[in-house]
Amino acid sequence: MIEKVRELKEQIAKFEAKTQEELEEFRMKYISRKSVIGDLFANLKHVAVEEKKHMGVALNDLKNSAQQKFQALIADVNTATSSNNKAVDLDLTLPPATTHMGSLHPLTIVRKRIVEIFERIGFNVIDGPEVEDDWHNFTALNFEENHPARDMQDTFFIEKNPDKVLRTHTSNVQIRLMESQKPPIRSIMPGRVYRNEAISARAHCFFHQVEVLYIDTNVGFMDLKQTLFHFAREMFGKETQIRFRPSYFPFTEPSAEMDITCFICKGKGCKVCKGTGWVEILGCGMVDPNVLENCGIDAEVYTGYAFGMGIERITMLKYGINDLRLFFENDVRFLRQFNVYLT
Ligand code: DAH
Repeated sequence: MIEKVRELKEQIAKFEAKTQEELEEFRMKYISRKSVIGDLFANLKHVAVEEKKHMGVALNDLKNSAQQKFQALIADVNTATSSNNKAVDLDLTLPPATTHMGSLHPLTIVRKRIVEIFERIGFNVIDGPEVEDDWHNFTALNFEENHPARDMQDTFFIEKNPDKVLRTHTSNVQIRLMESQKPPIRSIMPGRVYRNEAISARAHCFFHQVEVLYIDTNVGFMDLKQTLFHFAREMFGKETQIRFRPSYFPFTEPSAEMDITCFICKGKGCKVCKGTGWVEILGCGMVDPNVLENCGIDAEVYTGYAFGMGIERITMLKYGINDLRLFFENDVRFLRQFNVYLT
């Protein structure tokens, strides 16, 4: 019998288990009540009295080694089935799954930049409605009754008599602002505008503008020029020069259009500036006293300047984009080129 115990001890020491089945096999063979060790304990009663004590110690020792081995095997099988399997699945040579981060739309990048430039010099951002009445879109802005801009050609009418239109410019927000707020006013008004135009590389029925309004005592054309000069240099670079050409808008007097030196050719003449060295970027002027009075602001006390620019135009110039339609097609091949993550 002692020979049998030694043999079993050796078997137990050698036993290896990698799976649950092998573990169960070990349990049945050496741990359970019907195991060989259990049988040996049952046979103890047939052992001669003088050997009983010695045998009992040997059997207990065998039982303990079986228990210890069983615990060790459980641990082995657990690691084999969890981490070892994972290690098999894990291919460190695989390239990581790429995540495509969305990027800001170029028009958003440029709008944010324009707003930032003006916020730094004390302007606040104001929003206004896109569906507008005739008063705020035209009449209060000093448009004559028969001004061509009111024509069905340019304006999307939503209702007739009284007229409701999709605003044709962001200048409507100037009026709403002056009606609701006393000067000093220093505001910037970005937004969507709509015109009844055929869609082409250079025109669209839907685009974006930024309006700027400054009303206070003693505001002169010099202030307008200085602000625009600052803006042009911040937006297009320190060497940028500006020039004003006389123009006409019903709501400003005098009115002007502003050009900047072409930043592609630095004024030498190229395709973008059509060889002139200059590109037009915005319309501006001193707010017409009629407009101030229309909004209940005393034109004897207050003066102001205003200007408005198209965000698409500035974006096209800045990034060398030659077709307006690209902005609205949402082709990711176009959009992915503007990897600027501004907040
Ligand atoms: N509203 C004009 C347009 O849509 C742009 C404009 C010109 C705005 C002169 C102004 C301004 O505030 O003073 O073409």
